[in-house]
Amino acid sequence: MTAPDLTVRIGSMTMKNPVVVPSGIFGYGDEFAGLADYGRLGALVLKTITREPRAGNPPAHRTVETPAGMVNAIGLENVGLEAFLRDKLPAALHHNTNIIASIAGDTPAEFAHCARALDLTDIAAIEINISCPNVNKGGMAFGIHPDASAEVTSAVRAVTNKPVIPKLTPNVTDIAAVAVACEKAGADAISLVNTFSAMVIDVERRRPLLAAGTGGLSGPAIRPAAVYCVYQVAQAVQVPIIGMGGIWNANDALEFILAGASAVAVGTALYADPSAPHRILAGVRDYLERHNEPSISHIVGSLKPH
Ligand SMILES: Cc1cc2nc3c(=O)[nH]c(=O)nc-3n(C[C@H](O)[C@H](O)[C@H](O)COP(=O)(O)O)c2cc1C
Repeated sequence: MTAPDLTVRIGSMTMKNPVVVPSGIFGYGDEFAGLADYGRLGALVLKTITREPRAGNPPAHRTVETPAGMVNAIGLENVGLEAFLRDKLPAALHHNTNIIASIAGDTPAEFAHCARALDLTDIAAIEINISCPNVNKGGMAFGIHPDASAEVTSAVRAVTNKPVIPKLTPNVTDIAAVAVACEKAGADAISLVNTFSAMVIDVERRRPLLAAGTGGLSGPAIRPAAVYCVYQVAQAVQVPIIGMGGIWNANDALEFILAGASAVAVGTALYADPSAPHRILAGVRDYLERHNEPSISHIVGSLKPH
C-alpha cells in the first residue's frame, strides 16, 4: 500500500502534514531551537505580535501548574511589529515549513496595520488572535462577540491575500456563531481553542497567584471541552479547522480530526516533551495505515453517531 497522503490545504497554504505548533509556545520559532526539527511539521505559528511592543504582565507569576494543565497570563509580551519584521521573522522563515504570523490589537485598524505589513513578507498565513484572555483591551473582547469578530476579520481580509485564520475563544456560549460570523467575513480557516479563563488562589496570602489575577487554562484538563468546541464549529462552517487544546498523543489528535479538524496544534505538551508533535505525527500516520485510509482528509469529520 502507498503511504497515506498527509497534505492539508488552507487557502493558498499547503501543509505537508496536519501537525502544527500553536502561537505562544516557542516564541518566534527560536525558543525550542535544537530540541527537535520543527521544520518537519505542517506549520509553526509564531508568538502573537501587536503594532507596538508590549511588556506583558509582571513575571511573578505568569504561569502556574494545575492538575493536568497550566494557567498562564503572559499578557501578550512581544517585541512589536517593527522589531518582529526586522529581528525575528527572517530567522523564523529559515524553518523549512509554513510560518504563520499571529496578530492582535486594540482596534480592527491595529490588526489591519499589522496584516498589511505582513502581507509583504514570506509568511504563509495570518492568524488573528481575537481570543487572548490575558489583556484588558482587545483580545477576547472581540472574540466573545460574533459581530466584533467579523469586524476584525473583515479589516484583515481587506488588506491581504494571505490565508486569514481567526483564532477563537472557548469562553462563549455559542462558539459556532462566532465561527460562522468569521467565515462570512472572509476567513480561510478557523483556529480553536485558545485558553479557558481561569484563576488560582494562594490561600495563605489570600491573593490570586498570578500577577494578572486571572489567566488562561491549557493542557489535557481542557481537551474534552476543546474537542466539543471543534465538533460544534465543524457542524457550522465549511472552511478548514485547526483544532487544539491539551493534545498529548496521537489518540488525542485523532479525536480532534474525527470531530472535524483538518489540522491539529500541540502546545502545552511541548513543555513536557519537545518531540511531542513528531511523536503525534508518527502516530497519526500509523493510524491511517492501520485503517487503510488513503489520506488524512479522508478521515476529517468522519465521526459516526453513537
Ligand atoms: C504560555 C502560553 C502562551 C500562549 N500565548 C499565546 C499567544 O501569544 N497567542 C495565542 O493565540 N495563543 C497563545 N496561547 C494559547 C495556545 O496557542 C493554545 O491555543 C492553548 O494553549 C491550547 O492548546 P494546548 O492545550 O495544546 O496548549 C498560549 C498558551 C500558553 C500555554
